[in-house]
Amino acid sequence: MNNKVLLIYTIAAIAATGGLLFGFDTGVINVALPSLRQEFQLSATAEGWIVSAVLAGGMAGSLLSGRLADTLGRKRINILAALIFVLGSIVAAVAPSANVLIAGRLLLGLAIGIVSFSVPLYLAEIAPSHIRGRLVTFFQLAITIGILASYLVGFAFAEQIEGWRLMFWAGFIPAAVLLGGMFFVPESPRWLLSKGRDEQARQVLARIHEADAVDREMTQIQAAVRDERNRQGDWRELFSAKLRIPLLIGIGIFFIQQFSGINAVIYYSTRIFEMAGFGSSTTSIMATVGVGVVNTLSTLVAVRFLDQWGRKPILYTGLIGTALSLSTIAAAFFFRESISPDLLRILAIGGVYVYIFFFAISLGPLGWLLISEVYPLRIRGFATSMGSSYHWFFDFWVSFSFPIMAATSLGSNGGIFMIYTAVVLFGLLFARFIVFETKGLTLEDIEKKWQ
Ligand code: GLC
Repeated sequence: MNNKVLLIYTIAAIAATGGLLFGFDTGVINVALPSLRQEFQLSATAEGWIVSAVLAGGMAGSLLSGRLADTLGRKRINILAALIFVLGSIVAAVAPSANVLIAGRLLLGLAIGIVSFSVPLYLAEIAPSHIRGRLVTFFQLAITIGILASYLVGFAFAEQIEGWRLMFWAGFIPAAVLLGGMFFVPESPRWLLSKGRDEQARQVLARIHEADAVDREMTQIQAAVRDERNRQGDWRELFSAKLRIPLLIGIGIFFIQQFSGINAVIYYSTRIFEMAGFGSSTTSIMATVGVGVVNTLSTLVAVRFLDQWGRKPILYTGLIGTALSLSTIAAAFFFRESISPDLLRILAIGGVYVYIFFFAISLGPLGWLLISEVYPLRIRGFATSMGSSYHWFFDFWVSFSFPIMAATSLGSNGGIFMIYTAVVLFGLLFARFIVFETKGLTLEDIEKKWQ
């Protein structure tokens, strides 16, 4: 690996800390809830709010970020997000009441919403084109590592008094790393050129590209920027008949990703394992660490094979696999009276792990990948920020409703998981009729489809 490639990966790793925080601050609630319940005696609704405040913040953050990324630049918007992460971690960790905690979680969500848009954008703009796809999946990998880290931290502090505070303090560390690190990465050359700061753009390109490629890159980006200026798209264009398919893909992929119940597992698996009869919360947290491990390892498989297998075969495999595992979990709960407690536990934990595997190789990375590639360049920024706000909107409803549904008979008879199965089956229609294969196509090839 030569120095320039090493530099690109270092820059990508610093930016991807934003993904790590996304994973950490969404996942940590899973392991923090048992200790929070002890301290605050939460109602199902309060619990729903503590989990979902992050998601409401995420929705706001991703909507704001489109504009901000253009005016502030990619570097400063990430610094701003890092500052909010730092602040949110402190507020959540010292919260004297559930309401202050909810406020801290809202702040964290705002920052997550910003990075869920700005980090993949920055990665795509700084990456040499041949590794662009890989760097976008890198973001999903960072998310899963963040989730795993939060579970490990949860496991370490589960038995401590007010352990949840230590868990939130742990989130302060990557926030500080992102804040410090962001001062050292270069601004996106593409953004600099769009602001007419050609000299600075050239300097950045000279740092990250081989000498003979700098001029070529400059000319290419300049042409793209000029093109974009001439044909500035807006929301009317996004909703025009011509772009109906990419619009449907962007919203549909996140609808299915979220309503497949992924975050019911990522945020509440400890609770699910308790419902399946895993005694103490420590055992359930241990089983939850397993969720994080399976998730990260399977995402590594996706990083390796996504470009080779093609998007559609992967989507079909993922949907069928998640439908089978979700219905197994549903059946285990439904027949709980007639099967042995051991069998219930095995089916629940096995079902959840198999489900995570299939999700992580398909719907997980594909969500962020498809929205970064299906839109024409001139509306990409805007459309991507809208797409990611749909992610948070759907995530909000799934996560808010889970504890409320779990407290009813839908929780004890497996009905919740039947609902998720139905959505995934519907996803097969979506994969068949709406999604099209983008494997091996350049972004320009994809764009030609909409002309
Ligand atoms: C994807 C989803 C996110 C989920 C994660 C789990 O990034 O968008 O909501 O928590 O996968 O790995």
